[in-house]
Amino acid sequence: MATQQEGGGRLSAVLSPEEQAGQDRFNQIIAEDSRIEPRDWMPEAYRKTLTRQMSQHAHSEIIGMQPEANWITRAPSLKRKAILMAKVQDEAGHGLYLYSGTETLGTPRDELNDQLMTGKAKYSSIFNYPARSWADMGAIGWLVDGAAIANQVPLCRASYGPYGRAMVRICKEESFHQRQGFEILLELSNGTPAQKKMAQDAVNRFYAPSLMMFGPPDSDSPNSGQSTAWKIKRFSNDELRQRFVGMIVEQIKILGLTLPDPDLRFDAETGTWLHMDLDWVEFKAVIAGNGPCNAQRLQRRRDAHNEGAWVREAAAAYAAKMARKTEVA
Ligand SMILES: [Fe+2]
Ligand SMILES: [Fe+2]
Repeated sequence: MATQQEGGGRLSAVLSPEEQAGQDRFNQIIAEDSRIEPRDWMPEAYRKTLTRQMSQHAHSEIIGMQPEANWITRAPSLKRKAILMAKVQDEAGHGLYLYSGTETLGTPRDELNDQLMTGKAKYSSIFNYPARSWADMGAIGWLVDGAAIANQVPLCRASYGPYGRAMVRICKEESFHQRQGFEILLELSNGTPAQKKMAQDAVNRFYAPSLMMFGPPDSDSPNSGQSTAWKIKRFSNDELRQRFVGMIVEQIKILGLTLPDPDLRFDAETGTWLHMDLDWVEFKAVIAGNGPCNAQRLQRRRDAHNEGAWVREAAAAYAAKMARKTEVA
């Protein structure tokens, strides 16, 4: 693809006839609300945006295992331990589907892994907060997985086929995760006064960070417009946040707890939920690597990767042996 300078000084792409045909077909698929598949021609910017979004999503699933994995050995009963282990294992699965999906865009897994471990890639800021009590397992499941669902259900219709299809299964599992979190909080809330206090404290700490999971306000979200035009994103950050707030406002009543937001009210005039100001300075600092647990999370990931080197070597040796056997046969 060549570029030429236009009159206004802007650089615009000059497509070859083949690329132009690809672009026309791409535009048609998007206009028809159909799906782009890995072998289809796609604009480089579309490929790049999706690679960034899908790999960030995969990294979030993988790093997101850590706050909960810390509690597996301290779960209060065998039943709770089994449920939490299954949940953390689901998150590993989500990471693996999403890495596979990202690879269909042309970036190998090793490179994606490197981007995470060297701190070059981003992942969801929420996983850089510590999980201090057992009730945090409830708050994470209810609020963090809940926010993930609100974000991800519309992604089941994302224009890139492998992403949309992966999201269908992921969302089914996320809704189980949310219910298990809700159930932990419900039981604690109906327990002793100390247990109820622990549940409230967990909700207090995870409320604002979970609202920030939808990303900055629409007025400060530079990539959203293009992602919406490409039908990757279907709703704006603020629209999704609104939907989530409307949901948890009702559910907190059943929990018998409160949301730590004195400003929270429904504004009938605009039809929106008004909530507290969120600390976007803190959000940016956590994304930039300066949250309470960023260094610890990345170090743990690097250690786990190094400890797993022998598994990768064994798998590669086995694959090579099988390939030799096929050759001989
Ligand atoms: Fe997940
Ligand atoms: Fe989950």
